[in-house]
Amino acid sequence: VNRIPLVAGNWKMNFNHLEATYFVQKFAWLLRDAHVDPRTCEVALMPSFTSIRSVQVLVEADDLPIKYGAQSVSVTSQGAFTGDVSADMLAALGCSYVIVGHSERRKYHPEDDANIVDQVRAVLAAGMRPILCVGESYEERKQGIELDFAVGQVRDVTRDLSVEEATKLLIAYEPVWAIGTGMVATPQSAQDAAKAIRDDIRETFGDETATSLRILYGGSVTSKNASQLITQPDVDGFLVGGASLHAEELAKIVRLV
Ligand code: G3H
Repeated sequence: VNRIPLVAGNWKMNFNHLEATYFVQKFAWLLRDAHVDPRTCEVALMPSFTSIRSVQVLVEADDLPIKYGAQSVSVTSQGAFTGDVSADMLAALGCSYVIVGHSERRKYHPEDDANIVDQVRAVLAAGMRPILCVGESYEERKQGIELDFAVGQVRDVTRDLSVEEATKLLIAYEPVWAIGTGMVATPQSAQDAAKAIRDDIRETFGDETATSLRILYGGSVTSKNASQLITQPDVDGFLVGGASLHAEELAKIVRLV
């Protein structure tokens, strides 16, 4: 299987553009020092909207092996939508990825499945790739329905997509109970969820789409647990929150992948 792993740092609402600049300079130096090869491990940063341009300038000036993207996007293309940012605006900044349906967005903003599908479509139409986040809460895990729940969330969003659209998708399995808690999923349960998602995608979209689909794990990933998680055959990288705010720690995770 030839899936290039991706380590994506989701900064959430951290770092202004000056802090982002400082981070990227240091992080780029650490990646260079570690001889990180973008052909064997892709690295991406997901800053706040206000920091994307600063990241772009540094990446383009030195041709850094760092991709970047946004944490959310408007479902409309332009017009009277105060406070929103369109997919075309993000694409114009050179964004490669957009996180869609993160559990924090589902919780704090009115992002339901219909809205998430529209975000996926907007991202694809602008030539970027969506990273669709799914994952069960502690309640669902207690009931033992975590796999069905995560697969159901994927289905709810992908059911209307064409094979071409689905092939451009990435999925991040992020159990809500593991996000920011220090309670990382076991490598086996990350694998079980990733495999269940891949099997379901195979059923709907066929073998080629399923085989090329990159499924990330997210939820309290650190340099201490990353090497175990990445040995799992269906885990193709990480969506890193808290640990991505420390350049050394994120570079360490990249080196382990
Ligand atoms: O998008 C990232 C996830 O929400 C994980 O966050 O690494 O701080 O647990 P965390």
